[in-house]
Amino acid sequence: MSNIEKDLQAGEKPAIRIKIAIDGPAASGKSTTAREVARRLDYLYIDSGAMYRAVTRKALDLGIPTDDDDAVAAISADILIEFRPNKEKTEIYVDGHDVSAGIRLPEVTRAINPVAANRRVRENLVARQQALGKAGGVVMDGRDITTVVFPDAELKIFMKATAEERARRRLRELEAKHISAEYDAVLKDIEVRDHADVSRQHGPLRQADGAVLIDTTQLTFEEQVTHICNLAREMIDDLSQSDDALE
Ligand code: CDP
Repeated sequence: MSNIEKDLQAGEKPAIRIKIAIDGPAASGKSTTAREVARRLDYLYIDSGAMYRAVTRKALDLGIPTDDDDAVAAISADILIEFRPNKEKTEIYVDGHDVSAGIRLPEVTRAINPVAANRRVRENLVARQQALGKAGGVVMDGRDITTVVFPDAELKIFMKATAEERARRRLRELEAKHISAEYDAVLKDIEVRDHADVSRQHGPLRQADGAVLIDTTQLTFEEQVTHICNLAREMIDDLSQSDDALE
């Protein structure tokens, strides 16, 4: 039963369900943190990076170079991307096929920059992200969520960590999936993507006005999650009080 259903059954006013937007560079821990925050608040988690990865995966599978802007924009207009949550994780389906593992492969990561820089791809994916999150009760992470997708989000977070710490984390993540990689290559990939993320013309990565900065270099996963959940609960309490004051 969802929290809203529980509130309704208990005869209580359903709690306000906010939008939580989280941005940050590659491997800053956004996705795992955002997923756990969503689980604790009983919110929907949307990984916007998975959508850019899904478009890239489909282009590679069709043998289309990812710098072919017209062909890749056409893919982003037609592609069916579904987030199917189960007990442990959310699986990503493209056109009815499970691509959860295939979108994380290094070949996708290497080919993604022109896809993320493609204006029409961004417009198509941003519109889908806005539709998915408009009702609130959502945690969404990416690069432009606090600035372009939901600049009106009630809680905006910018997560950062040093490139070296992010490379170590990404290496552990790949090792856990039995994908072999070298630290130097992973660090290089992160630096290249950092540069692409901050310097692209459309939807560049930057800290939005009003975003809370969290440097995760020295934080544990639990500390990150607790911090964001506390900020969310404070925001929900503040909004409920101003709502009550208006009644
Ligand atoms: O997990 P990781 O940090 O490697 O990246 P991701 O969140 O899966 O995103 C993959 C790529 O998509 C990134 O390199 C970004 O350039 C791009 N992206 C984007 O342009 N806009 C977003 N809202 C999310 C991701």
